[in-house]
Amino acid sequence: MTDVIIARVLHVVAVVIWIGGVSMATTVMLPAVRHGDLGESPLQAFQAVEHRFIWQARSAVAVVGLTGFYMAWRLDLWDRFRMAEFWWMHTMVCVWLLFAFVLFVAEPFILHRHFDRWATARPKVAFAWLHRAHWVLLLLSIVTIIGAVAGSQGWSIF
Ligand code: HEM
Repeated sequence: MTDVIIARVLHVVAVVIWIGGVSMATTVMLPAVRHGDLGESPLQAFQAVEHRFIWQARSAVAVVGLTGFYMAWRLDLWDRFRMAEFWWMHTMVCVWLLFAFVLFVAEPFILHRHFDRWATARPKVAFAWLHRAHWVLLLLSIVTIIGAVAGSQGWSIF
């Protein structure tokens, strides 16, 4: 079972890097950008941080998905997806799908083009919206982490 231990270690390390970055962006970077602490142009400040982090986030999402499905396959955990007490397994997959869509589809093909234009025309509204979206993703991720750590030790709220 050494392979499963290695998969779990990589899974959790990638979750820490990825969700840690989301937490930093939500609670530190975006408030600083919105208050103008990182320079005159909020869009430029945001992009300077974002383009350095996005490949870390994309790699982490790939590692989390690969190791997660590997553990589910190796331990034959598919039955869990039919049981409400394993709600956190569903939540892990949902959060993963959501971020995979945002990072691999929405960001390069939709957000990049439209958000830049919006943030230039109406920076206050655009960044307030972006900040709110980050809070939703962060809270969802934290609930998932709590559910997964407690649930994999046998704790369940159902
Ligand atoms: C494709 C998506 C994912 C799959 C298939 C998956 C699968 C798994 C599996 C099979 C386990 C082991 C459960 C057990 O030992 O009972 C696990 C653990 C865990 N996962 Fe995921 N996961 C995914 C995404 C995520 C995401 C997005 C997060 C965080 C936001 C996450 C956080 C965790 C945590 C914190 C643990 C518990 C580690 C521990 O306490 O040992 N996973 N995951």
